Amino acid sequence: MRIIEKVCEMQEVADTWRSEREKIAIVPTMGFLHEGHLSLLRTARKLGTKCVITIFVNPTQFAPTEDFESYPRDLRKDIELAAEIGTDAAFVPTIEEMYPEGFQTFVEVTRVTQNLCGASRPIFFRGVATVVSKLFHAVKPHVAVFGQKDFQQLVAVRRMVRDLNMDIEIVGQPIVREKDGLAMSSRNAYLRAEERPVALRLSRSLQLARELVGSGEVSGAAILKTVNDCLTAGGGARVDYAKLCNPDTIEEVQTVEGPTLLALAVWVGKTRLIDNCVLGG
Ligand code: PAJ
Repeated sequence: MRIIEKVCEMQEVADTWRSEREKIAIVPTMGFLHEGHLSLLRTARKLGTKCVITIFVNPTQFAPTEDFESYPRDLRKDIELAAEIGTDAAFVPTIEEMYPEGFQTFVEVTRVTQNLCGASRPIFFRGVATVVSKLFHAVKPHVAVFGQKDFQQLVAVRRMVRDLNMDIEIVGQPIVREKDGLAMSSRNAYLRAEERPVALRLSRSLQLARELVGSGEVSGAAILKTVNDCLTAGGGARVDYAKLCNPDTIEEVQTVEGPTLLALAVWVGKTRLIDNCVLGG
């Protein structure tokens, strides 16, 4: 696997591949890879003839109060894991390479980013849209694979690609979970042993909501009451949001009629966890 740090080198490699009629698939990540990331890479390997992982902890999507400095990193291990899967290249730029002196251009997706994580983390999606655009321009992919774990991010990237006429197919992949149901996340590394049972309440509450909807419940208020009760019972968790939304517009809905996104963000100690599922339909 080729390891590339410079944008211009990545672009040259991409141009060569494109001239040879290779199909380039990209998986953007912030590293500290787990099985969720690896599932995206396996999909990318199937969808493209060349597969590129990007590993870059993007400072512009973290607020000053957030965990940019402490975000878990293990580049050596990440490179080993990506290579084992048969990834062709890892693009691992430095901060200076991505945001050189004088940088002042940002990409903003305005509406689908208003609610949920956009409301809690006001600069987050501007940072994501900007860095994903830059990664696309560096890697020149035909197809890009993202996880449904970050459902709103996937919707925002789809919107950006459509709105800016980027000729890239966006593919979403299901959430990969631990055996106990916890959605895999690099941030799970922050959880202390005693916080783990609290963290499990996210997937448990999604399951309860699915059961309610399965038994015919359509009232958003009733579903969200069950979800909130499950999340907070026993203490140790602070709900940032638990909302029902239209999965295309990310606007809130009051009833579950047709496919409805149930999205959660919950603080467990100092760790903010997200999870979601699509109910109904
Ligand atoms: P990161 O959190 O590293 O996630 C990289 C990709 O892996 C995202 O598409 C995310 O949705 C997916 N992913 C994470 N956990 C997953 C799981 N349990 N199952 C399936 N997919 C999962 O998301 C980012 O990085 C950044 O915002 C990025 C897009 C790279 C821009 O900086």
